[in-house]
Amino acid sequence: MTDAGHPGRVSYPPGFFDRADPADDTRFYGPPRLVQHIDDDAIAAVGAFYDEVGVGGAVLDLMSSWVSHLRTRPRHLTVLGLNAAELDANPMADERVVQDLNADPVLPFADASFDTALCTVSIDYLVRPVAVCAEVGRVLRPGGTFALTFSNRCFPTKAIRGWLAADDEGRAAIVARYLREAGVFDEPVAQRRPSRGDPVIAVRATRR
Ligand SMILES: C[S@@+](CC[C@H](N)C(=O)[O-])C[C@H]1O[C@@H](n2cnc3c(N)ncnc32)[C@H](O)[C@@H]1O
Repeated sequence: MTDAGHPGRVSYPPGFFDRADPADDTRFYGPPRLVQHIDDDAIAAVGAFYDEVGVGGAVLDLMSSWVSHLRTRPRHLTVLGLNAAELDANPMADERVVQDLNADPVLPFADASFDTALCTVSIDYLVRPVAVCAEVGRVLRPGGTFALTFSNRCFPTKAIRGWLAADDEGRAAIVARYLREAGVFDEPVAQRRPSRGDPVIAVRATRR
């Protein structure tokens, strides 16, 4: 099956971006959850990956909460998520933006204003992920990195069906596909990171 808007491109299967709970995300994410969404080993693996990427300078943490999993405080950290209380509790944040990316994927930032963008254990909740990845590309400077991590845990009613149906390798392929289709990144690199606890898969791509 090809995509009508993009001749030659294979479209996503019907229902791929559907969710069991299609209601406004602000409802589900209304109550603050000041919790860890992955175990300690996985958190360590995520932090080590972001260290390896060299997260620094002006950083955007997309779909953020009270923790950004960075071991070193960047020069300037902007956190964007759905829950103001969670973002307010993020001790590294310099700037906080509450925005529903499923309602509006356009990021309220200038072109090329960030060195690095992150998205930790959250890409599975986006219903227009390619549009969001293209926006991340717009706000990253050329040579900047978009680094994403995920595990096998999620809020299943809010994750897209295509994600729930995939295994770890399939999910890495899904994220790599989003990044390719955003059209502004070099070829993404996906890898399983060492973790004795929850699995950690990382995908990174460089802004062309
Ligand atoms: C599993 S939590 C992960 C939070 C954080 N990144 C972490 O690693 O602990 C998912 C986060 O995604 C954010 N989120 C979910 N749907 C969103 C949406 N439609 N727009 C923006 N943020 C969203 C929520 O605010 C929530 O904090």
